[in-house]
Amino acid sequence: MRLGIIGVGHLAGALLTGLARAGFAPADICLSPRGHGRDLARREGYALAQDNADLVARCSHVLLCVRPADAAGAVAGLPWRADHVLMSACAGVPRTALARAADPAAIVRLMPITAAEKGASPTLVYPMRADLAPMLDAFGSTIALADEDQFEAATVYAAIYGWVQKLIAASAEWSAAQGLDPGVSRQVSAATFVAAGVMQADASRDMGDILQSLLTPGGITEAGLDHLDRAGAITAWQEACALVLHRLQGTR
Ligand SMILES: NC(=O)c1ccc[n+]([C@@H]2O[C@H](COP(=O)([O-])OP(=O)(O)OC[C@H]3O[C@@H](n4cnc5c(N)ncnc54)[C@H](OP(=O)(O)O)[C@@H]3O)[C@@H](O)[C@H]2O)c1
Repeated sequence: MRLGIIGVGHLAGALLTGLARAGFAPADICLSPRGHGRDLARREGYALAQDNADLVARCSHVLLCVRPADAAGAVAGLPWRADHVLMSACAGVPRTALARAADPAAIVRLMPITAAEKGASPTLVYPMRADLAPMLDAFGSTIALADEDQFEAATVYAAIYGWVQKLIAASAEWSAAQGLDPGVSRQVSAATFVAAGVMQADASRDMGDILQSLLTPGGITEAGLDHLDRAGAITAWQEACALVLHRLQGTR
């Protein structure tokens, strides 16, 4: 794989850190000169393309990380061949729009998150291809979806990733305001969310049973969850998921 990146902004920076962490040599990755591309090439030794056409000519696999509104325009008119793989991380941009603009390249949709910089991104992919495995492994774990509708529904988790960070920060702020050391507040808040994820990731156990086992009748977990439910927090969370999915589907 000769990897190139068009759209060297916030997400691409995290992906490049993950790739470097996994041992990908910067000189083997070609960046487009816009955004942070030129600067990263100078500072860290990435190959630098003259422009997007030069990048496509030099690479077999092109990762597209521009804003969704710029996606089709960024890849149109470039020297695509049938043996190219265009991997788009652009939220809500369908494969058909990219296929028209980058014909005859193969089109793959990816949805990594910035935790890729620590090798901890659960990266969504559709359709999966074996030749992408080393790159995806560098980002973290891979979740291959069966069709594009399921990929779109799963993409809501890219937003949930941010909401969970808000919950971690709000919990830590609250406990620090009660007098807990701020560093300890942050540590226990983040580690508690990680622990909940580890427990719920165990597919051998039913999700509801795992939660139910924590709800001692009359206990603190039950009391707080009842309050959140009565206050509409769980419903509001699911409504926010639906809002994001409608945005991704372009129906709102
Ligand atoms: N941020 C995340 O955590 C995240 C997570 C998952 C998916 N995504 C997806 O990743 C994409 C990028 O998000 P971002 O947050 O990284 O945005 P960003 O920081 O704004 O980066 C986008 C970059 O694309 C460059 N660009 C625009 N048009 C270009 C073109 N024609 N050729 C070459 N470069 C071009 C911009 O350069 P200029 O500055 O020169 O305009 C900018 O550096 C979005 O589609 C988003 O849906 C983001």
